Parts: sequence; structure tokens; C-alpha cells
Amino acid sequence: MNISPGSNDFSEVVESDRTHVWHHLSQHKRYETSDPLVIIEGKGMRVWDANGKEYLDGVSGGVWTVNVGYGRESIADAVREQLVKLNYFANTAGNVPGAMFSKKLIEKMPGMSRVYLSNSGSEANEKAYKIVRQIAHNKYGGKKHKILYRERDYHGTTITALSSTGQNQRKDHYGPFTPGFVEVPHCLEYRSQYGDCSDYGVRAAKAIEDVILREGPDTVGGIVLEPITAGGGVITPPEGYWETVQEICRKYEILLHIDEVVCGLGRTGKWFGYQHYSIEPDMVTLAKGVASGYAAISCTVTTEEVFNQFKADPSDPMSYFRDISTFGGCAAGPAAALENIKIIEDEKLLENVTAMGEYLMGRLEELKDKHAIVGDVRGKGLFCGLELVVDRETKEPVNESVTQAIVGDCMANGVLIGATNRSFDVYNNTLCLSPALICTKGDLDKIVDAIDNAIARVSGT
Ligand SMILES: Cc1ncc(COP(=O)(O)O)c(C=O)c1O
Repeated sequence: MNISPGSNDFSEVVESDRTHVWHHLSQHKRYETSDPLVIIEGKGMRVWDANGKEYLDGVSGGVWTVNVGYGRESIADAVREQLVKLNYFANTAGNVPGAMFSKKLIEKMPGMSRVYLSNSGSEANEKAYKIVRQIAHNKYGGKKHKILYRERDYHGTTITALSSTGQNQRKDHYGPFTPGFVEVPHCLEYRSQYGDCSDYGVRAAKAIEDVILREGPDTVGGIVLEPITAGGGVITPPEGYWETVQEICRKYEILLHIDEVVCGLGRTGKWFGYQHYSIEPDMVTLAKGVASGYAAISCTVTTEEVFNQFKADPSDPMSYFRDISTFGGCAAGPAAALENIKIIEDEKLLENVTAMGEYLMGRLEELKDKHAIVGDVRGKGLFCGLELVVDRETKEPVNESVTQAIVGDCMANGVLIGATNRSFDVYNNTLCLSPALICTKGDLDKIVDAIDNAIARVSGT
């Protein structure tokens, strides 16, 4: 079958998909009576499905990935040139795009020094956990091996990444989990655990210290945190939070690992989310936006201080990072990532994110004024969430079916938005937006208008 861009008949594709493809995060029973969504083509902010229906994409490929938009020929060209020159060699050796991308990336990350390449956000996080564990063995007789993670954060799909994930519904039925991961409280001020207080951010950070003291500081080696919690409900950090977290990490010699898998490369208006909060991380992990989904690549970035601990004693056969990722040696990833950075620079996309992000927040505040169901609006740059409630006083969350009905209404009307999705028992009530960094006011108006109309239809307000 010839599937060319001009071809209109995708019935064989849809049928093959229905019969053989097991979709991610999907209950398949419904595909016995309806067609699965099959996306055929993308250009800029838009994608088209097998029926030719056009969608304006408000979530960059469903899961905040296609940051520079669809159909970028310069990335495709860079990948093609690299593949015909050298597609692969294990990363025990270097290659041209790997070296040049790493140099470019580190220029954007003052204080950081080394880039370890692999394939997915989960895998990048696993590397960071192994680094913590190996340092615990080398320096602390194995004792300082625990890793803290935060309620509502997500760090990936593998069993150990799930062990460090604070989303109960995502984790249910996949235990038992990897030992040594300990949860700390969330920092969502809208749902303050400490009542009304003027120093919520500091208190939320101090709650981490309480956990460290309970577990024993000599047992805690690392903490993994999203700079802004993504799939857990777009939770922006409260005032004073990050400064206190940083102090606590220094006080107890705990490695600070920032998971930038979603915020990384431009989404919030700076290259990285953590750079809004003057954090000095020991490790940073990246994936989705690194190459905007044009190739699979993830990075575990460390300081030189962390790196040095893995070369201290060449006579010791255990004194190096004993880890490999086969496809971390695929040269297409860094080739795509290098061109992705160039596009963000050449088209001044960070500036666009800041300007469009402010515009989007303004428009979302209007929705809050208009619809009682919108309890809270939060975000940074082009990364925003609307938390939906039954009642603004009690803040009772809407049922997930309401959230999904709004997402479904937008989709039926040609606009793709996201939502916290079967992650929690009750808090699957946040609509999520992460349009490509190239978006215009016109695109944002269409997205917000679609949400406005969807809320009106679903909630009757
Ligand atoms: C913050 C965060 N970290 C890690 C991951 C896992 O990335 P991947 O799906 O590439 O393994 C995700 C995926 O959504 C994420 O949102």
C-alpha cells in the first residue's frame, strides 16, 4: 500500500491499527465499536487524522513533546545526513553530533558539565538513581542510598521510575516496588496541607526536611523533583520553596536531581524550568523536548563534581559508571537535538514563549472569571493548567468524567488539549496546555475559545 501525503484512503491503516496495535494508556474495548485515532500528518501547530480532520494541537503531540512544531525539514535533513554518514556506534565511543550537542547543551546549563545519553525520560532518571546508589556505595558504605520523591510528581514508566512516582493510580497493581524510595509531601499551595499561611513555600520545603530527619540524613542520598510538576496537575512552586529545598540538600549532603523531562528546552520561557528559581542542581534529566520528538533521545546531565566520583581510582574495577544504553549510541538523537536548539535560538522562541505565555495566562484568567468550575489557573510560559472544582469554597474536585468530557468536546471541535489522566484517586481534574513554542495569539485564542465553549456545554455555565 502506498501511503503518500495526498492519499485519502487510510482504511487499511486504521484496520491494521485496530487489529494489531496496543495503544499506550488506552482501554481498547471501545475500539471494537469505534475507530482508533490515527494521526497521519503534522505541520506547525496542526495535525490531521486518517479521516482528514484537522486539529490544532494544544499539547505538542499529546504529551508536551513537539516543542518546535511539526514538519521541520531542517531537523529531518540533519537526521538524514547523519544517518547516511554514521547511524550508530555504541556510546563507549564518541560521535560527531553527540559531542557537538553535548557542548551546546552544557553552554545552556552553567554549573553543569557532563551529558550521558539514553532513550527515554524514564531511562534518564534510572541513570541518575544508579549514580546516587553508586556514590552511596563508594562514599558511604552503601548507607546513604535512599532517594526522595514528591507526592504528585511523575518520573517514568519502568518499575523503578514508578517507585519514585507520587501518583497512586499510575502505580496501582505494579508493585512490589524498588526499595529505598521515600515520598515527601506535594507543594500545591491551592491545596495547602497547612491551612492558610503566608509562608507556604517554606513550610512545604521544610516538610521534606521532616522526612529526611525521620528516615535519618545518613540514609538519604538524593532527591528527585520536577521543577514544575507536569502530569500531576501543572503545579508551579510556591514562593520560597526552591531556595529552602536547595538549603536542605546542602545541609544534609543530598544530591539534587531535577527532572526536566517536560520543562526542558524552552517550555517555560527559559532553557530549563529550574533556571527560573536559581537552583544549582547536581543532576538534571531531559527527554521529550530535547529533540521535539524528531528522534528518541534523553540525557542525564551532571556536574563535574558528580562525574569526578566515577573516575577517582582507575585501579578499582568498580570505580566507573557501569551502565550502558544500546540506543544511547544512536546518532540521530543528538543530530536532531542540535538542530532543535538551533531553531529555538534562530527563531527566538524563548522570547515567544514568554510573550505568548503571558497572553495565555491572561486568557485563562478570563475563563476563571467566567466559569465557577475553574478553581485555579497556574503555569509558567507555555505550560499551563486549569484545576476544575465542583465548588470554589470547598474546592471539591470535579469527577474525572467531567474533565474528560471537556477534553472530548475540544477534540470534537478540532482542538487537542490534555488533562491529568487516571493518575490519582480524586485529582484527575486539571486541564493541561502545552502548545508548541511557535504558537501565535491566534492559535491561543482558538484553544482558549474551544475550552470556553466546552466548559459551557459540559458544565452548563
Ligand atoms: C516529568 C517526567 N519525567 C519522566 C517522564 C518519563 O519519560 P518517558 O515517557 O520518556 O520515559 C515523563 C513522561 O511523561 C515526565 O512527565
